[in-house]
Amino acid sequence: MTIQRTLAIVKPDAVAKGVAGEIITRIERASFTILAAKLVHMSLAEARGFYIVHRERPFYDSLCAFMTQGPCMPMVLEGESAIQRWRDLMGATDPAKAASGTIRKDFATSIEANAVHGSDSPESASFEIPYFFSSFELCPR
Ligand code: CMP
Repeated sequence: MTIQRTLAIVKPDAVAKGVAGEIITRIERASFTILAAKLVHMSLAEARGFYIVHRERPFYDSLCAFMTQGPCMPMVLEGESAIQRWRDLMGATDPAKAASGTIRKDFATSIEANAVHGSDSPESASFEIPYFFSSFELCPR
């Protein structure tokens, strides 16, 4: 048993489409505990800081601009093997390769506008959760 926390983001494309609620329903049905959630409209500097690990990638500027197009909804999810289980629920980064029944298969439109984000490791979660939430904003139970 490994109880983990992960950072999930409903990205601006999914918030704009009005599917944040459906995504939260899938999260709840999968028995994650939502410890925190809020709407945030990131500045370019905030998006660049969040995705700093990708700064050398050719898609970095475009990805950061996309993440500032409108509000996104970061959340902290907790549960057994939460990091991998949330990645499984999201599906492959490229929606064209995502399995049926996954969030990206159903709601993403491209590899960039791919509806959701999830931490890829415990180290990433340790950086990403406090990027958006202070300890006072988490509601453990
Ligand atoms: P995410 O899980 O938020 O982590 C980094 C993001 O970069 C990823 O989802 C995609 O939205 C984006 N990304 C990854 N690869 C590419 C790519 N080849 N072209 C454009 N965006 C990409």
